[in-house]
Amino acid sequence: MSQTPSKAQTSGRDAAALAITPPQIVGPFYPVSEHPDLATDLARPSGSTAEALGQLIHLSGRVLTRSGAPVPHARIDIWQANAAGKYRHPSDINPAPLDPNFKGFARLTTDAAGHYSFRTVKPGRYPTAEGEVRPPHIHLTVEGRFDCLVTQLYFAGEEENVTDRWLNAAPHPERLIVTLKNSPSRLERHALIAHFDIVLASG
Ligand SMILES: [Fe+2]
Repeated sequence: MSQTPSKAQTSGRDAAALAITPPQIVGPFYPVSEHPDLATDLARPSGSTAEALGQLIHLSGRVLTRSGAPVPHARIDIWQANAAGKYRHPSDINPAPLDPNFKGFARLTTDAAGHYSFRTVKPGRYPTAEGEVRPPHIHLTVEGRFDCLVTQLYFAGEEENVTDRWLNAAPHPERLIVTLKNSPSRLERHALIAHFDIVLASG
């Protein structure tokens, strides 16, 4: 018997494949003068009891291949504006204040099952040099064994989601939007949670 799948079998497998997470631009604010925190808590500086300002959120999910296999030990870089919409970056012209308790740059690694999670504050919307307003979003780079994806994660219900040209340049913008929900009792009562699976082509 042949080991090569028939055309029908191949088509069926493709139909069942997960959709690849759309890529997004890196943007102008990838940290250049900071080292990432190697911790999963962006909302509280290491060794501090002070918390960043803003709505606490817990984000979690898995890094997967198109076939649904987990991608273990993938490296995820996270960078974002603070709750006022200000990046800790020399090129950011937004007059909004920095938050001394928020660095907004972290690096983490998925576990053996491809899981990741981190705690942060919801970023604020911010004006661009072109006079637009970007909706709240979090930048991510995800490096697996074969793929490197750069993307951005957005939040449902933000009015700028409708007009943002970067979000709407994605082939399926809805795949980049998460819905914040109340946290279960095991987490902080005032925190919100969201789930975001990231799908790479090959892992
Ligand atoms: Fe940004």
